[in-house]
This record gives sequence, structure tokens and C-alpha cells, in this order.
Amino acid sequence: MGFKVGLLGLGTVGTGVGKILQSPEGRHPLLQAVELARVGVRSLDKPRDLELPSHTLTTDLAAIVSDPDVDIVIEVIGGLEPARTLILDAIAHGKHVVTANKAVIARFGDEIFTAANQAGVYVMLEAAVAGGIPVIQPLKESLGANRIHAMMGILNGTTNYILTKMQSGGDFDDILAEAQALGYAEADPTADVDGFDAGDKIAILTSLAFGGRVKLDQVHREGIRQVSAADIAYAQKLGFVIKLLAIAKLPPNNNNNQVEVRVHPTLVPEEHPLASVNDAFNAILIEADPLGQVMFFGPGAGAGPTASAVVSDTINIVALLKTGLTAANPDSETIHPLLACSHN
Ligand code: NDP
Ligand code: HSE
Repeated sequence: MGFKVGLLGLGTVGTGVGKILQSPEGRHPLLQAVELARVGVRSLDKPRDLELPSHTLTTDLAAIVSDPDVDIVIEVIGGLEPARTLILDAIAHGKHVVTANKAVIARFGDEIFTAANQAGVYVMLEAAVAGGIPVIQPLKESLGANRIHAMMGILNGTTNYILTKMQSGGDFDDILAEAQALGYAEADPTADVDGFDAGDKIAILTSLAFGGRVKLDQVHREGIRQVSAADIAYAQKLGFVIKLLAIAKLPPNNNNNQVEVRVHPTLVPEEHPLASVNDAFNAILIEADPLGQVMFFGPGAGAGPTASAVVSDTINIVALLKTGLTAANPDSETIHPLLACSHN
């Protein structure tokens, strides 16, 4: 039995996904059953780094999500709209969805998962947080026996790249341009630089780890615009590095069922495991009971790492469909009661 993919977006991530789907040899055997059937883009005139039959490419994305031949829709166009509407339309047409879009999931996850559960389809989002690092699936499954007390991580590759290069004296705007050229930055890099992207990601992780739905406006958020070369040099002299950390933790003696969620530049001691996470790498340190500390580390942005997570989600959907199980996504009935958020 074959499975047809409708790919929305053929930019950095979409091209990476297309390359994997077109070369299944030596990868998971189920990939042989997956066909890249249709690809949606904004412009048909752009040169593409992927060879496709001419009839595959279209600017009519609505036609892809309603195409009766498409089984799985991969959304990698980014932004809030039309991404949200296309995901909901795909679900309404009975398609399973894979997305790398943390902004849509953090802000409209409730609506999307409720629709998916009603339609009996899967929505997978491993690539939405920390690029190629598997962290969503561990939080949903492998760490399920644990109570999580705290998570602390570097969740944005672009800002980590900028802060790393500024240590050797580079200019902020030049380094940001490099990060854009390398495919790390969002279409509007304000999302990276001002901490919105890391805020969306920690909101998603917090919802999974502590239950409930955490919204971006409940996350205390500061970006890296105010961090100067002098700040970085002083920090180095004192034995620290400056990192944009995303943090979610239960305060000690948490009587009010509150979780603190915040994103801000932080002085990290040089000997701390997060201090040596450089360039576009990401890491997430989780404190769990009874496991103790566990750290996930790896490439947090870029075509290959992100496509790795997107295609692995696609394979997982195919594997689940082959078992004939009913789709189950997190929704308000299957997760813990909402914890209030605080950043005081
Ligand atoms: P790009 O800007 O490189 O690519 C976006 C693609 O979507 C392009 O092919 C563009 O078409 C298409 N597109 C955008 N808007 C529309 C529209 N309205 N109608 C039709 N096509 C549209 O983005 P990325 O690949 O970098 O990112 C995609 C998603 O993946 C985002 O949600 C991002 O947050 C997420 N992500 C990105 C990572 C990265 O490292 N880049 C890592 C993890 C997640 P055209 O080519 O014609 O312009
Ligand atoms: N712009 C994001 C980053 C892409 O720099 O981390 C990965 O989500």
C-alpha cells in the first residue's frame, strides 16, 4: 500500500524533505511506500534545488489539501496564515498532517488538535521544536513515567549562532545575514532575534511536559537585541557565556500549581553543559523524577536536520496507519489540567 504526500512549501525545509523522499534507499523501509505526489509554492518561476515532474508543482495549495489522492500533508510554508487554514482544511479532508510550524502550533494547537481528534487523523510536530533533535516524542512517550520539574534549553539556532559568533567579535547584522543565508532564520528574523520563536517552542514543550495549554503571551520574553559585544566580553572575563535560554519550571513548594515560563538572555557559567552549545545547535536539559537530569543536544535548525524530523514523523504516521490504530493526539481530555503560568 502506498502513501501520497502533499508538500506545502519548497524552501529550506521543504527542499530538504523532498530530497529525502526522493532517495529512500538505505533509510527506513516504510519510506519506500511514500510518494511525493504534489508540491505547493508561492512562485512557479523560482529556481529550485529539487528535480520534480512539471505537473507536481502548483501555487494552488488549497487543491493539494483537498486532493482525494493525498494521504499526508506536510506543512512547511511557515507563518500563521494561510498555514493555519491549510492545516485545518487538510484535517477536514481527512489528511494526516506533519508540520514544522511552531508559531501555528503554539497559538492554534487547541483548535488543530481538537479538529484532528474529531476527524481521526494524526498531527505530528517533531520538527517544530529544536529542529532535528527528537524531543517532542520523548516528552509524549519515553519520559511518561516521570514527573518533570524543570526544563531549560537553547531552542533558537539563529540567536545561538549570533551569540556564538559575537564572542569572536563579529557584527550583529552581518552575522544575522549569515544565519539567514544558512537557512536558519525565520522568514521574518524578528521572530528569532526578539525571542518569539523560542517563546513558541517553550510554550509547546511546557504544554507537553506540565499539561494544559501555555500561550505565548503567558511566556515572559526578551530577545537578544540588547546584548552588546561589551556584555559578551565582560561575561567572558567573569567566566560566563551569554545564552538565550528558554526555561519552564515549577517553583519550589509549588502550592499554587504554577509553572514559570520565560525566555531571556542569561549568564551561563562556562562549566555548565549548556555553555558549550554553540552555533545553530540546540539543547534541552530536563529534570525529571525519578530519571534525574537528561539532556538532548543536536542540530536545531537548517534543511537537513529539520527535514530529518519531518520525514521521521511521516514514517511514524505510515507505521501507525499500517497498525490500523485510531489516531490519538493530545487534546484537553487526554492531558493534565492546565497549570497556571507565572513569570514573577
Ligand atoms: P522558507 O521561507 O525557506 O520556505 C517557505 C516555502 O513556503 C517556500 O517554498 C515558499 O514558496 C512557500 N510559501 C510561503 N508562503 C506561501 C504561501 N502563502 N503560498 C504558497 N507557498 C508559500 O521557510 P523554511 O523552509 O525555512 O521554514 C518553513 C517552516 O519550517 C517554518 O514554519 C519554520 O518555522 C519551520 N522551521 C524551519 C527551520 C529552519 O531551520 N529553516 C527549522 C525548524 C522549523 P516560494 O519558494 O515560491 O517562495
Ligand atoms: N529559526 C529557527 C531557529 C528555525 O533559528 O531556531 C528552527 O526552528
